[in-house]
Amino acid sequence: MSLSSPSTATPTAPLKNIIFIGFMGTGKSTLARSLNQTLNYPAIDTDQLIEKQTQRKITEIFATDGEETFRAMETALLQSMIDQNMDHHLIATGGGIITQQKSRELLKELGFVVWLRATPEEVLKRTSHTSHRPLLQCENPMEVITDLMAAREEFYRSTSHLTIDTKDLALDEISCGILESARYHFAHPDGSSSDSPT
Ligand code: S3P
Repeated sequence: MSLSSPSTATPTAPLKNIIFIGFMGTGKSTLARSLNQTLNYPAIDTDQLIEKQTQRKITEIFATDGEETFRAMETALLQSMIDQNMDHHLIATGGGIITQQKSRELLKELGFVVWLRATPEEVLKRTSHTSHRPLLQCENPMEVITDLMAAREEFYRSTSHLTIDTKDLALDEISCGILESARYHFAHPDGSSSDSPT
């Protein structure tokens, strides 16, 4: 399946990537990988790319250089995707990427941005057995999740073209909704698209 032929893209045409933003544990990478099966676009992950490029774990970057340095790496990575005119990719992003204004601008330049939402309770459930997220390695992760989510809500909202509440939705239901909306969005590059194709 294809949203459009990759060969029709020109350097000046709007980029047709599908980008996933949302809080930690909302399934961004899982969804990107799942849509890769349907669309055959390469699925990439900003966290993984940063780890590969720096040859360091994110926990280590946070511990040694601090969050601000990590945010600058995220922005630089997005900028390099734009500079390479990267197109027709599924891009999963780290949950805090939207905290930087420059990153928010670049995300929208890269294509169709999907915000995956989940409740703090679901996020806690999905992240509690993992240890690779430095911000949640604390005494009261629920408090951190609730506070960060509230602080980031408006950034997610203003950066995204589509919002998906992941609760009670199966992966293929979510995928179908995204494909329909992305198709509509890419067919209306003048900005006349909306959350709904109808
Ligand atoms: C972060 C989310 C993580 C990772 C880093 C910081 C955040 O990515 O980028 O630990 O600030 O929300 P995931 O959303 O893929 O867990």
